[in-house]
Amino acid sequence: MKHFLDLSHISKKELRGIVNEAKRRKKKCSNKGKVVVSEKSTAKDKLLLMIFEKPSTRTRLSFDLAMRQLGGQTIVMNSQDMHLGKGEETIEDTAKVISSFSDVVMFRTFAHNSLIELSKLLTVPLINGLTDHSHPCQLLSDVLTFEETRGSIQGAKVAWVGDGNNVTNSAIEAAVQFDFQLNIACPKGYMPSKKILDWAKSKKGNIQIISDPVKAVKGVDCIMCDKWISMGDNVNVKKKKKELKPYQVNEKLMSYAAKDAIFMHVLPAAREEEVVSSVIDGKQSVVWLQAENRLHGQKAIIDWCLS
Ligand code: CP
Ligand code: NVA
Repeated sequence: MKHFLDLSHISKKELRGIVNEAKRRKKKCSNKGKVVVSEKSTAKDKLLLMIFEKPSTRTRLSFDLAMRQLGGQTIVMNSQDMHLGKGEETIEDTAKVISSFSDVVMFRTFAHNSLIELSKLLTVPLINGLTDHSHPCQLLSDVLTFEETRGSIQGAKVAWVGDGNNVTNSAIEAAVQFDFQLNIACPKGYMPSKKILDWAKSKKGNIQIISDPVKAVKGVDCIMCDKWISMGDNVNVKKKKKELKPYQVNEKLMSYAAKDAIFMHVLPAAREEEVVSSVIDGKQSVVWLQAENRLHGQKAIIDWCLS
């Protein structure tokens, strides 16, 4: 069973293969429009079931279109509409039914443990569509975006600025698996997972904790950030925003990065909070390409799971 749960669970070689496959498929496809089965795919006539506990724009659209373009079909369910979501059916019984109807499942959930639990019960592959702990699909297509705009990511310098959250955790795993340097500038109390930092250390990853955002972005090839308040964050919003304010990505901060550095944002963005409009809409921003590349990344992920 090939579950796509976290980048740390998959070998470097296989991850590189998935990114290369996404690049290859991108060359053969335009995003929009007709449902075209462009070429042979393991997903042909298969069903992707997507279950969402939280809202989504990019993940839902890109997985849906990806599966259609691969010649498969999709069903989207909101967990609130399922008996499981209402506590009226066990996860064991739900997993049996899901496994009998679908060929591959994507799950966006609050608790990472729910994802792990489901992965143990399903008899079909499961894809992590974001949890409170990680967002591997995002980072996989972000590697594609980096390489499309800046060349090989191996040995590159990337800075993560702002909240240390689920996406930061996946960025750390990506840095280890794709061999790039990741400078982390997060305020005290908002650091990414210690477990993942320890894992990165054990793998000799080049992860630098540099709390001063100016020092963290000096000369980097890419600045990455995300919303300060994530879905389901149970925090004092006012306090958190105040503490993160010095980590806002603005033109001044961008000016310390390499001249041709790119700006990346997971999206959705809270403009004038973690990033100012002149940066996200500026020449160095590749955020719309990032969103578009989710389509190509998802195709390669689905194909890997089903192959
Ligand atoms: N970046 C991302 O996963 O966006 P959505 O929440 O819109 O899916
Ligand atoms: N960190 C954000 C990512 C959204 C795609 C969240 O979890 O809400």
